Amino acid sequence: MVTLGIETSCDETAAAVMVDGKVLSSRVSSSVHLHAQYGGVVPEIASRYHLEYIFSVCKKALEDAKKRVKDIDLIAVTDSPGLPGSLLVGTAFAKAVSFAGNIPVIGVNHVFGHILSCFLDGKDTEEQAFPFVGAVISGGHTSLYHCKNLEDFALIGRTKDDAAGEAFDKVAKILGLGYPGGPIVEKRAEAFDGDDVISFPRALLKSSADHLDFSFSGLKTAVMYYWRSSSKTEKEKNKICFSFQEAVVDVVEKKISRALKHTGVKRLAVGGGVVNNGVLRKRLRALSLKNKIELYLPKKKYCGDNAAMIASLGEKYYKLDGKKALL
Ligand code: KG4
Ligand code: ZN
Repeated sequence: MVTLGIETSCDETAAAVMVDGKVLSSRVSSSVHLHAQYGGVVPEIASRYHLEYIFSVCKKALEDAKKRVKDIDLIAVTDSPGLPGSLLVGTAFAKAVSFAGNIPVIGVNHVFGHILSCFLDGKDTEEQAFPFVGAVISGGHTSLYHCKNLEDFALIGRTKDDAAGEAFDKVAKILGLGYPGGPIVEKRAEAFDGDDVISFPRALLKSSADHLDFSFSGLKTAVMYYWRSSSKTEKEKNKICFSFQEAVVDVVEKKISRALKHTGVKRLAVGGGVVNNGVLRKRLRALSLKNKIELYLPKKKYCGDNAAMIASLGEKYYKLDGKKALL
């Protein structure tokens, strides 16, 4: 079965071709450079970019996979959550191709796609992994799910304000480091060589052991106040980045650990752009070793937004029930 995946929920225009669970091609074109001067995604600019690039990105993904429109058996497209104008471009394009080629089209949840990205190109499948704790740590989401089967992902924790990646982006903005903040803050943290770590707040950790929600806006504000009264040197920036990253990673690790205890499951899948972070990956590996937890992480090329994860979930839904959630 040949599936064309389409993803346009935020600032990446992405298309992928999958054949029976195998990724044949995955193209991502990002408008991130256009948002850099604003320090965050500008929805209007993102949707205009999708409009401009959706056709060529899909065409290239098909060419890479040596497929043509007539070969496609299914179109899977992100239909939620995301920026409305951006989602509209992807879903309208998917419906147009569906209409022209008489191809079924299926809507896919972007966040669930990030969870399934852990199983792309890997030896393990999610079918073997169920039930597991699924976490999405990205620029738009920081959520925990108890994933029992493909149709039952129960939300057990989420951020009450900023997402973890959003906090990385905002801290980079406060320090004048550029956008997106995650990779820059990680590099700056690596460059820190002192031991006078700033004790930034770790929100909602003192709450009861089964409290699984996150909050990162207080941490961002604490960084802002610290920065205002600091000496504003490059060394100081590195120290702030290191201390901030430690605070985020600590909270994510502890909440995930609580989620594993709360659900009693022994398997964990963590997806999303922040999973690019080497320190977070290391801490999750240590957690899995210590507690004998089977850990699934996406390959780095599948951490950020991509359409392979959308094709994968769409194909699985379709095989489960050919008529499910058709747009
Ligand atoms: O999953 P993603 O591409 O888009 C959303 O669905 O949100 O995630 C983007 C987020 C951005 O906030 C970016 O700063 C963050 O992922 N990110 C990182 C790293 N690389 C990307 N955060 C921390 N460390 C990184 N190395
Ligand atoms: Zn995403």
